[in-house]
Amino acid sequence: MIERKAVWIRPARDMGDVVPEFSRKFRAGSGIERAVLRITGLGVYVAEVNGGRAGNFIMAPGWTSYDHRLQVQTYDVTDLVRAGEENTVTVLLGKGWYRSRLVGWRYCDDQEERRKNPAGLLADLEIRYENGSVSRIPTDESWLVRESRVRFSEIYDGEIYDASFEPGTADHAVPFSGPDHTLIGQEGEEVLEKERLSVREIITTPRGETVLDFGQEITGYVEIEVTASAGDVVDLSFGEVPDADGNFYNENYRTAKALYRYTCRDGRQTYKPLLTFYGFRYVRVNEFPGGPQAAAKENFTGIAVYSDMKRTGYLTGGDPLLNRLVSNGIWSQKGNYLDIPTDCPQRDERLGWTGDAQVFMRAGCYNFDTERFFRKWLRDLKADQKEDGAVGLVIPDVLQEPPSAAWSDVASIGPWMLYLFYGDAGVLSAHFESMKRWVDYVTGSTAKDGLWAGKEHLGDWLGLDAPSGSCKGSSREELIATAYYAHSAELVVRAGKVLGEDVSAYKELYEKIRAAFRREYPEYLTQTECALAAYFGLAEDPRAAADRLARMIEEAGGILKTGFVGTPCVLHVLSEYGYTELAYTLLLRREYPSWLYSVTKGATTIWEHWDGITEDGSFWSKDMNSFNHYAYGAVLDWIYGVAAGICPLEEAPGFRKVRIAPNPDRRLGWLEARFESRHGLITSGWEYVGDTVRYEITTPVEAEVVLGGVKREVGAGSYIFYAEA
Ligand code: BGC
Repeated sequence: MIERKAVWIRPARDMGDVVPEFSRKFRAGSGIERAVLRITGLGVYVAEVNGGRAGNFIMAPGWTSYDHRLQVQTYDVTDLVRAGEENTVTVLLGKGWYRSRLVGWRYCDDQEERRKNPAGLLADLEIRYENGSVSRIPTDESWLVRESRVRFSEIYDGEIYDASFEPGTADHAVPFSGPDHTLIGQEGEEVLEKERLSVREIITTPRGETVLDFGQEITGYVEIEVTASAGDVVDLSFGEVPDADGNFYNENYRTAKALYRYTCRDGRQTYKPLLTFYGFRYVRVNEFPGGPQAAAKENFTGIAVYSDMKRTGYLTGGDPLLNRLVSNGIWSQKGNYLDIPTDCPQRDERLGWTGDAQVFMRAGCYNFDTERFFRKWLRDLKADQKEDGAVGLVIPDVLQEPPSAAWSDVASIGPWMLYLFYGDAGVLSAHFESMKRWVDYVTGSTAKDGLWAGKEHLGDWLGLDAPSGSCKGSSREELIATAYYAHSAELVVRAGKVLGEDVSAYKELYEKIRAAFRREYPEYLTQTECALAAYFGLAEDPRAAADRLARMIEEAGGILKTGFVGTPCVLHVLSEYGYTELAYTLLLRREYPSWLYSVTKGATTIWEHWDGITEDGSFWSKDMNSFNHYAYGAVLDWIYGVAAGICPLEEAPGFRKVRIAPNPDRRLGWLEARFESRHGLITSGWEYVGDTVRYEITTPVEAEVVLGGVKREVGAGSYIFYAEA
C-alpha cells in the first residue's frame, strides 16, 4: 500500500475542464533492482515515466464505490527508470467517474458535490537498489502541476486535445487531506486495449457527411494517424446506427456529447483519447486536415477497450443469423464489461444497473471468466448496501434510488452464480450476510406478510405488453417482486447449506412466500408471469404454468411479449416442460419481435429494445434507444445450457462435475458449444445426419449425460453417441 510519506496533492488553482498534468523530476542512482509506482487518483489517470506509460490499465484506477473503496494500482516501472540520470514522472488526471457529471440525464443531489472534488493524486515511486537501499518519490508539495494539452475530458462528453498548446509554467502542487481510509489494492480485472479494428468502409451520406464504418459496434476510442500542420483539426462524432435515410445519427446519446476534437501540431502524429471512452460503430468526420473528404481508412483505427477477462465460451450452429446473435452477445458483453457491468456504453447513463447485470450474468459467465470482475463489483454492492439491507438500482450507487425487484436481487443471485460457475464457496461466505440483509430488507419493508407488496418496482422493464407510453410491461409488479423475494430467500438457504449455517428461518420464510404467492396469484395473466411462476418453482403446478405460457405465446401469434425480467426465463421454462420445439421457434424467428430481428437489421450488438429500429426504419424513440444493451442477450445462456446442454451442477460447483444434456433441433441442423471451465475444456455438439442425430461430447471431468431423456454417468473423455432424430 501507499507509504505514509505520500500525501494527496491537487493543483493550486481549479483548472476547470482542463486536465492537470502533475510532474516530478528526480535523479536515480545506479544499480537499480526494481522500481515500482503505486498510484491512484480522484478521476482517471495516465502515468508515465520518461514518456513511457506505467502499465496498460485504461481508465485506472477503475470505478468503485468511491465513498468506501478506491483502488490503488502497482506498476513495475523498472524498465522506464534511467539509472544514474535525471528522470521525470508525469501524471494526467481526468475527471473520470469520480468527477464527471454522473448521472447524466438528471440532477442528483450529490452530483454537484462530486464534481467539486479536487483533481487529487496520490502516488509513490519506490526504487530499490542492488545495494539494498531504497529511495522514494512520494506525492507532496515538491510535485509541479500545469495545464496539459488535454483541454477537456469527461466520461460522457468525450475529450478535447490541443497538440499545439504550449503548457505554461507549472505551480507547486498543494497537499490536501484526501480519502486515505478508503484505499484498497487492485481487485478487478484491468481494463485494457483488447482489439484493434480497421475502417471497413467510408460512407458519404445523403446529407454529404463523411462517415467511417468500423463494421462492428465497440466500446473504446479511435486512434488517428495524420500528417498535418499546426492548428489543423480532427473533429469526430460517434454514432451506433445510421438513421432511416442513411445519415449520421446519434440523438440517442441524449446529453452525452461524446466529443473528440484534436488540434494538430506540425508533421506526422498519432493520437487517441486518454481518459474517456465512446460506444460506437460509425464515426462522422466533422473536420480533418484538407477537409473531411480527405480522410482515408488508414488514418483511423478503432480500439476496443474492456476488462481483461479470459474468453471461455464459444457457440456455432447451422444458422448464420444465430451465429451473429451470439457474436452480438459477446460484443455487448465486451462493450459493457468495462470495469463494472453497465447497461450501455454510449448515452448519458453507462451505469452499473443491477437488473441488467443480473439477467445477463449467467450468459456472461459462460462467455468469459468473470469471477474476478464480479468479485470486485459485488464488494462495491456490499459497500453500497444500506444499513437496512436495501440495495440500489445501480452499483456504484450514484443514483440513490430505492430498490427494485429483479434489479437489487443481484445481491443474492450474483454470489450464487459465481459459486456455481467457479466453485469457490469463499464468495458465499463473503456475501452471506449481505444476501441475508437483502432478504431481511424485503421482509421488513413489505406491506403484506409473505409477499413483497406496497412498493414500486421497474416491473418487466420494456416488455412488449406495456401499456402505451410506459416502459413497464403489464405483468404485475408485486407478482414479479414476490417471485424474486422467494428466489432470493431460496438462495440464502442454498448458500447457507454450503456454508453449514443454520438457515431454518429462511427456509420457513421461503415456504411462507411460496404459499403466499400461490394464494395471491392463482392465475397468471402474462407471459412473464407464467414464466416466473414456473422458472422459480413457485407455481403449484409448474407444468400448467408452462402450458399456459406456451398457449399465450401461440395466441399472440408465436411471439414474445416479455421484457428484461421475463425474457431470460421463457425458453428455459418452455424446454423444461416439453416445449423445446416452441423454444427453438422463438429463438430462430426472424420477424419482429424476435432475437434475430435485430440481426436482420444489421445489429452487431444486442439492442435495448426488440424494435430499436422498426420495420420501416424509424426508431423506437430517440430518448431511450441503446443499440448496445445486453439484457436480451441472456438468451445465450439457454443456448449453452439447454440447446448444447452444458450445465453447472449445484452439487459439484465450478464444473467439478458437469451435466451435459443437449436438446437438438432439426431446423438449426447442428450446434457446437465449447466451454473452458476451470477443470478443462467441455464441448458438446450435435448434428442431424439423415434420420439420426450424432452427438459429440468431451468432458475433462465426470459427467452426467442426458440424451433423449436417458441419463448416463460417464468419466472424463470424448464420446460419440447416435440417437434417432
Ligand atoms: C437503463 C436500463 C435500466 C433501466 C431501469 C434504463 O435507463 O438503461 O437498462 O435497467 O433504466 O430503470
